Amino acid sequence: MSDTIVKVHIDILTLFPRMFEGPLDEGMVKRARDRGVVSITVHNIRDYAHDKHFTVDDRSYGGGRGMILKVEPLCRAIEDVKSKVKQDSFVVLLSPQGRPLSMDLALELSKKQNLIFICGHYEGVDERVRENLVHDEISIGDYILSGGELPAMVVIDVMVRFLMLDKEVVEKDSYASGILEYPQYTRPSTYHGWEVPPVLLSGDHSEIVRWRSGQAMRRTYERRPDIRIKKVEEHGADIRR
Ligand SMILES: C[S@@+](CC[C@H](N)C(=O)[O-])C[C@H]1O[C@@H](n2cnc3c(N)ncnc32)[C@H](O)[C@@H]1O
Repeated sequence: MSDTIVKVHIDILTLFPRMFEGPLDEGMVKRARDRGVVSITVHNIRDYAHDKHFTVDDRSYGGGRGMILKVEPLCRAIEDVKSKVKQDSFVVLLSPQGRPLSMDLALELSKKQNLIFICGHYEGVDERVRENLVHDEISIGDYILSGGELPAMVVIDVMVRFLMLDKEVVEKDSYASGILEYPQYTRPSTYHGWEVPPVLLSGDHSEIVRWRSGQAMRRTYERRPDIRIKKVEEHGADIRR
């Protein structure tokens, strides 16, 4: 590890720690960990269950199908993890009922010093966790996954791009800029008769900029007219190109 100061420390609370082996040990997240830009510790919620069966779930009061993640092991886990960091941790529950993940939200999280991500499972989490222990809830989309592990990995991946890349690079990404990114090509210029648009080979920089901004806006209108249309209009390039 380099001697770079750790910018964000993340503690993950999960029933399936092994799910994080691999995704957090490859690519940009690995580089970020190696450089000390982010540090991540994965904790098994079951280690905080104190009965002889290591029980972490129970039936729902009032009846209903499925099991609920209990409050005691989660509370103990959060208290233990918080006791090991200097600055108070910001606690996030991954939840389909949470705030939708966006670039702005990931940027906001990447500015916190200590984060705890709680990965739910079963039918959900005892509501008292939300009411008393959690600062924010985040959803990665309007669908239901079996657990919060994949959502936690998604949130971390988006955050790590903010921590690792130059501001200018991230600002040009789809969604961050308010418009989708333009199409990109690399060598060869012809493959199976599939041509790269001639403007990109022309060397005319201002024509390339015009072409790209037109393509980006056209894509946004065609594919995602909902996203920040206002910004697209402000851009002011010719979308008929
Ligand atoms: C099967 S889900 C529980 C869904 C719950 N019964 C409901 O309808 O809200 C189990 C866990 O997976 C996680 N999860 C599922 N879908 C998610 C999503 N779209 N975004 C974030 N977390 C999600 C949450 O941690 C949740 O507690």
